[in-house]
Amino acid sequence: MNIQLLNQNIADATSDISLEYMSDKELKKSKNKKILKLAGFKADQDSICFLHDKNILVCGVDSFTAEDIRSVSAVAIKALNKTNYKSANVLLRDKTLIPALVEGFVLGGYTYDVYKSKKNTPTLKNISLIYIKDDYKSAIKIFSDAVIIADATCFTRDIVNTTPEDLNPPSFAKLARKLAKENGLTCKILDEKALLKERCTSMLAVGRASRHESQLIHLTYKPKNPKKIINLVGKGLTYDSGGLSLKPGASMVTMKMDKAGACAVLGIIKAVSEMKLDVEINAFIGAVENMIGGDAYKPDDVLVSRSGKTIEVRNTDAEGRLVLADVLDYAQDKVKADYIFDFATLTGACMVALGQYTTGVMGHSSRLKHDLSKASSNAGELTSSLPFNKHLKKQISSGIADICNISNKPYGGAITAGLFLDAFIKEENKDKWLHFDIAGSAYTESPWDVNVYGGTGAGVRFMCEFLKNIK
Ligand code: BES
Ligand code: ZN
Ligand code: ZN
Repeated sequence: MNIQLLNQNIADATSDISLEYMSDKELKKSKNKKILKLAGFKADQDSICFLHDKNILVCGVDSFTAEDIRSVSAVAIKALNKTNYKSANVLLRDKTLIPALVEGFVLGGYTYDVYKSKKNTPTLKNISLIYIKDDYKSAIKIFSDAVIIADATCFTRDIVNTTPEDLNPPSFAKLARKLAKENGLTCKILDEKALLKERCTSMLAVGRASRHESQLIHLTYKPKNPKKIINLVGKGLTYDSGGLSLKPGASMVTMKMDKAGACAVLGIIKAVSEMKLDVEINAFIGAVENMIGGDAYKPDDVLVSRSGKTIEVRNTDAEGRLVLADVLDYAQDKVKADYIFDFATLTGACMVALGQYTTGVMGHSSRLKHDLSKASSNAGELTSSLPFNKHLKKQISSGIADICNISNKPYGGAITAGLFLDAFIKEENKDKWLHFDIAGSAYTESPWDVNVYGGTGAGVRFMCEFLKNIK
């Protein structure tokens, strides 16, 4: 589906159908009031009604906020994709609603049919947003950025949805190389030999029983005069079986999504390079597969991380933090950044704490957390802070090593995982770092908001919004 912004008069815009957004207030004044009443349409949020002989699709909203427009647009596009209309248009009253419309249509209309024999080919080919006000030029920039971010979110979803056979650590590295080539990024890849040389032995232990070699991927987008330098770090577990602390069958299904943090990082660097933002981005990805076998790392092992800190392994399913410990340390060594953000499907406990829809945000800087929270609410993603404290920190102490990879108590698991990562953040970087636990928000088996079955692309929109506004 193609989406475009036009400034022609709606009377000249030839589309098969027009979308009309309506709250209760507009419904009362509508010239189609009677017929809508007959159809039982009450302008409830996310309700829609086709007036086929008038070529109108009426979309109900509680208010004209971005949140409500985005949500009903996702409903509308799904309905339109089942019809035989070839083109649709929307007359815009306010340019600030452009991103919400683009996200609703592009993300709500997303489907993934790579593994289906029968491909999904909707009749609808074109959506036009019509904006006839004087400041059309500024609307074009808003529109093109919104399309770049929505497309990057779909790119992230595509990778998350790819099976663990098709997307393993070496093929992830290949994909990163391709993106680098297409988007003018530099790309450095460390295979297992190079990882050993870099002393990434905690990361290497996790991938040891896999038939695929672990890879550390480093992509850089470097504009001429960057305002800030950003390190993004992504957990890229292309499959998490749990290792010897094997997951029960039902919990293992969907664990191809354990690479979603890495996929988000790729989506973000793609969008930033296409928007040509004035920020330098360094994306670091630990691509590893956590498997079982005679060569597997074990509960009771003590690993020596790249930083020199020793880690007692008590559960091989708490593997993401072992990979991130080394990748975070490597990233801090190689690039002196203004901000360090890591994205990881790190804990089931994050879902217990916040539900499936909200990303957990952890870190030391209240200001940075506040800025991030603002960016996420502007971008239409849910985030919430999970606070560190010194009592929870004691729960990951070890009797034999410097730190333990699991907590000795059953509560606060998302935060103790965040505190584990904190142990690998250098003193001078404490206030520059945030950790995003996207375990719940990155993947869904039932649709919500603009998300459909599979990867959601969590993290891409809020991070792009944050980076767009960086001073
Ligand atoms: N990848 C999982 C976390 C996860 C669970 C993500 C469900 C998405 C959905 C992670 O590696 C893991 O298994 N964590 C364990 C940690 C525990 C052993 C301390 C968990 O959450 O149970
Ligand atoms: Zn795990
Ligand atoms: Zn995992």
